[in-house]
Amino acid sequence: MSPNTRARGVIDAMQASKIREVANAGMGVQGVQAFWFGEPDTVTPALLCEAGMASIRAGETFYAQNLGITPLRQALAAYSSRLHRSRVAENMVVTSSGMHAIAIVQQALLDPMDQVVVVTPVWPNLTEGPKILGAQVRTVALTFGAQGWQLDLDKLIDAIDAKTRMLIVNSPNNPTGWTMSRVQQQAILAHCRKLGVWILADDAYERLYFEGEPGVAVAPCFEDIAHEQDRLVSVNTFSKAWQMTGWRLGWISAPLELTDALGKLIEFNTSSAPVFVQRAGAVALTEGEDIVRQFVSRLKASRDFLLPALNALPGVTALAPPGAMYAFFKVDGMTDSLAFCKQLVSQHGLGLAPGAAFGPEGEGYVRWCFAASQDKLSAGLERLSGALAQQSRA
Ligand SMILES: Cc1ncc(COP(=O)(O)O)c(C=O)c1O
Repeated sequence: MSPNTRARGVIDAMQASKIREVANAGMGVQGVQAFWFGEPDTVTPALLCEAGMASIRAGETFYAQNLGITPLRQALAAYSSRLHRSRVAENMVVTSSGMHAIAIVQQALLDPMDQVVVVTPVWPNLTEGPKILGAQVRTVALTFGAQGWQLDLDKLIDAIDAKTRMLIVNSPNNPTGWTMSRVQQQAILAHCRKLGVWILADDAYERLYFEGEPGVAVAPCFEDIAHEQDRLVSVNTFSKAWQMTGWRLGWISAPLELTDALGKLIEFNTSSAPVFVQRAGAVALTEGEDIVRQFVSRLKASRDFLLPALNALPGVTALAPPGAMYAFFKVDGMTDSLAFCKQLVSQHGLGLAPGAAFGPEGEGYVRWCFAASQDKLSAGLERLSGALAQQSRA
């Protein structure tokens, strides 16, 4: 291949997602039980589909404002004020997915050579964006022990210094389910305030939290404790809590001074999210609490079904995660999770995500999305059990 027709060096050197690598080997293969992506096995609830279709029928098929339609921005401000702190529509920015929200916030705030600290293991899409922009990523790893995944707060505080431009935290975390405590958030916010460091909080799983007060599933968030003048940006998505992965709709809660810049970036990236998708999003926020409640209770039941069954398998260690929708379990003696997951697909028809996809600290682990029916989880467990038995005989 001619070197003149290649992408920029940093993009060329970038590894494709290992989750996709496994999925590409198995997507379309008949009979594969797939738990590799972070999405439920059910279609978007009818109430939300209806709202989208009614908008199309009403002829709302045109471009929209860069920052989102006013009713959705107002609904986001009301939702966020109810859950976290007082927000106005001007704080809220509508994006074409949570992924898009992450990308434009990073574009708005990062220069080449800026230093970014990220708590890992984490969804790889959070760490690759800064690299695309020429920024440098430094990771602080959670550790796994008897209490599950834990953060060494001192280690994180030490890693954030005068040279740091941004801290990225995803809590509840994909893939581990680890959720940052309020005390840790307070210490980190105070430290970042002192040094002028931006916090990019990925709150995609804030509603998928199993330890909150009954009926009000929401994890502790930086958004609860921040002030308007803080350098805090929260990114979020309709994909998870309302089961709208394919709709591609997300949002940002940002300081007022940042939103014009985000609007410019939206213009030059996607220009706007579709109006009919935004209408469905507005209904999710104003009428969709039952959807969230039912989904969280279904997820909790799935988690409580899957985790003990995984632990009963020989060589498997898994602890119930406090949030998100993944079992991230250790397999004794397994040192190449990508090869292991490829083998599970090709020989046993089981689709899981390799731990190494989430950073080197994820090696030796496997991620299983449990947003699935118990019948489907049982079928997957049977296949995993068969694979482990075969390996132990080999
Ligand atoms: C941690 C995290 N943040 C953000 C997203 C973004 O989701 P979407 O792009 O579907 O809105 C995901 C999706 O898996 C995720 O796991």
